Amino acid sequence: MARLLVLALLLVLATPGSEALPVLVPVTKDPKTSLYTIPFHDGAALVLDTAGPLVWTTCQPDHHPAVLACTSPTCKLANGFPFPGCRSSSSGSSCPPNSHNKCTVYPYNPVTGSCAPGDLSHTRFVANTTDGRNPVSQVSVKAIAACVSLGDNKKLLEKLPLGSAGVAGLAGTGLALPAQVAGSQRLPKKFLLCLSRGGVYGPGVAVFGSGGPLFLLRDQPEYTQSLTYTPLVVTKKGSPAYYVSVKSILLENTPVRLPKKALATGGAVLCTRTPYTLLRRDVYRPFLAAFEKALAKQIPWAKKARSPVKQLKLCYEANTLPNGLSGYLVPSVALAMEGGGSWTMTGSSSMVDVKPGTACLAFVEMEGVKEGDASAPAVLVGGFQMENFVLQFDLEKKRLGFFRLPVFTQCGHFNFTRTG
Ligand SMILES: *[C@@H]1O[C@H](CO)[C@@H](O)[C@H](O)[C@H]1NC(C)=O
Ligand SMILES: *[C@@H]1O[C@H](CO)[C@@H](O)[C@H](O)[C@H]1NC(C)=O
Repeated sequence: MARLLVLALLLVLATPGSEALPVLVPVTKDPKTSLYTIPFHDGAALVLDTAGPLVWTTCQPDHHPAVLACTSPTCKLANGFPFPGCRSSSSGSSCPPNSHNKCTVYPYNPVTGSCAPGDLSHTRFVANTTDGRNPVSQVSVKAIAACVSLGDNKKLLEKLPLGSAGVAGLAGTGLALPAQVAGSQRLPKKFLLCLSRGGVYGPGVAVFGSGGPLFLLRDQPEYTQSLTYTPLVVTKKGSPAYYVSVKSILLENTPVRLPKKALATGGAVLCTRTPYTLLRRDVYRPFLAAFEKALAKQIPWAKKARSPVKQLKLCYEANTLPNGLSGYLVPSVALAMEGGGSWTMTGSSSMVDVKPGTACLAFVEMEGVKEGDASAPAVLVGGFQMENFVLQFDLEKKRLGFFRLPVFTQCGHFNFTRTG
């Protein structure tokens, strides 16, 4: 009898998540920087950084947050992923002589790389729960974030969207937002990301503590049923970013000829810090040449245009490209992923209208990286190429699920009318 009771108790304790709902936030694209932001609390917006290991905000004036002690294990965790060039605790101890027992961390700006000291403190993340269709009710999620006094550190917000007050790291590490929400709300360590192109399309969504369901329009199917999976690769370099393995790049189903092992060298990373996908030079140059050739074969009358943007090297007069529901009808680009799936991009994901009448290939050569430099990833999938894909980051099963939304459906279609 006692045994049964214990068993029943264990069962109850083992299913604490049965009532907790996942946590939803709208994700807004900033037109100027092409970065994505989420509301955090009290009107503060934070920039999403898929490779960021921490959450940090500027300190609110007259607000004295509860600061963690430098002796706490959490402090050690927070200093576990120092950004190259940032001064982490110089003495190697997390309690250097002048620390006054406060936990100091060095958050960084993911765009400029500048960093500044901040206090690791308790805070709250205010959002709504969701059933996958609508917001249900407001929640205040306990979280730990670094708070940086802007005074001497004005540069820390440089090049971030106007009005943003910090960064929400989404990496797979203990103090990034996904693990914190999962821990505080007792939810699975998974999250969904559906980025919208912004502007007239409305905000996209992020759902923490859930691998699904996700509905975007009434009477439409549930999208996480259709995901294709690829393993999230653990790198030895200690980078908190999400690495995946790309086997080959195809243009209209024909593999682009790349130097041997080019893709295996450095791997591929998902990164919302860069607007367009970056390719390392040894991958970019053959890819660009192959795309130009494939396009000329498919659309012989296409007229090339001068690029209005330095980084975008291959542009066309838009009115010479056929156009369809899935964007310009240019050769499709597919990343053949480990696991057999294919991340396929039609014109709406591969071409960008840089100015009226000019459409450019939205892939960019990585700068400051040498040919085949193994310390740089071969492919850095940027925000533009993630838009209108449902992405499921499953930190428990260590895999990424991806699914391109059908034409007519957008990440901006999520229904933000509350039902609770
Ligand atoms: C929760 O959802 C309601 C309804 O959409 C919205 O007005 C409110 O701003 C949301 N709250 C947060 C914190 O996002
Ligand atoms: C959005 O959700 C609300 C609440 O369920 C519903 O009444 C409304 O019809 C939905 N809007 C659309 C466009 O589906």
